[in-house]
Amino acid sequence: MEYKNIYILAIESSCDDTSAAVLCNNTKLSNVVAAQKIHEEYGGVVPELASRAHQQNIVPVVHQALAKANIDKKQLSAIAFTRGPGLMGSLLVGTSFAKSMALGLDVPLIEVNHMQAHILAHFIKDENNLPPSFPFLAMTISGGHTQIVVVRDYFDMEILGETLDDAVGEAFDKSAKILGLPYPGGPLVDKYAQLGNPKAFSFPKPKVGGLNFSFSGLKTSILYFVQKMTKDDPNFVSEHLNDLCASIQYTIINILMDKLKKATKQTGIKDIAIGGGVSANSGIRKALKDGEKKYGWTTHIPKFEYCTDNAAMIGIVGYLKYKQGIFTDQGVTAKARYVI
Ligand code: KG4
Ligand code: ZN
Repeated sequence: MEYKNIYILAIESSCDDTSAAVLCNNTKLSNVVAAQKIHEEYGGVVPELASRAHQQNIVPVVHQALAKANIDKKQLSAIAFTRGPGLMGSLLVGTSFAKSMALGLDVPLIEVNHMQAHILAHFIKDENNLPPSFPFLAMTISGGHTQIVVVRDYFDMEILGETLDDAVGEAFDKSAKILGLPYPGGPLVDKYAQLGNPKAFSFPKPKVGGLNFSFSGLKTSILYFVQKMTKDDPNFVSEHLNDLCASIQYTIINILMDKLKKATKQTGIKDIAIGGGVSANSGIRKALKDGEKKYGWTTHIPKFEYCTDNAAMIGIVGYLKYKQGIFTDQGVTAKARYVI
């Protein structure tokens, strides 16, 4: 039988990154991301501004993705897009664009769940990494989500635990804000943490049962601690920035690792994959590698490009669904809350 290449154009617009990618089968040909700088001034994502920026970015981003992949739109086999979860105003831009483009080109439309995509990003072909094998545990850690999921097959996933309040990325960003660092503060906390003592200060770990997470209490205890210390010494934060960042990061990683260890014990699964922006954190990467030696885990950490929000991860889901003939009707609407 003649082998026909499948070309997917994928669109991601769930939060504050407008992204388009082209995949040929499971290989990424292009992955263009336009990050929205406007939110930095506000210390967080402003939904109204995000949707306006998506509308401005989407056409040039799609053009660039096609040009970089050296693909003409007439060659496309299908259009994949993020249906949810995410900010409604942001999702609407990508959803409407994808629907129109699929209609115009008369190709199938494929809806993608953003959280499934963070997990299935591990199946984008990568010369240096093997994909995880089923069943595996996925821990998705980002600015919007914190989940531990058991993945039995591409589209057979079950959430074992998730955050009851803030996401882990928010815990990093909000702690950074308390320390006077700009948004998003996660990468800066990571940078300063590497120069500090993780045991300089201790913060309480939340008492949440099962495999669920909670991070809002940690944020409050950091706030009270910093307020108390700066009363006596106004320069407390600047004089102890490295130690504060190291101690905050140490506490957050301990919370994540405790639950991950519990999940491996509960399921007997030792194949672990992480995803989401916080996977870039040097401490969590090290903790996972240590787990390989200590607990016999096999761990999978995606390339940074596939950790943060990007359309290539939407494209791989598009490809997997295309192969199974799972297509979406033109009547589809965006879904702000969308369980995997
Ligand atoms: O996946 P992502 O790009 O967007 C969401 O879907 O949320 O994740 C962004 C989050 C932000 O909270 C950011 O501070 C955090 O990932 N982040 C980090 C690091 N790099 C990004 N947090 C800790 N350490 C890092 N190195
Ligand atoms: Zn995400």
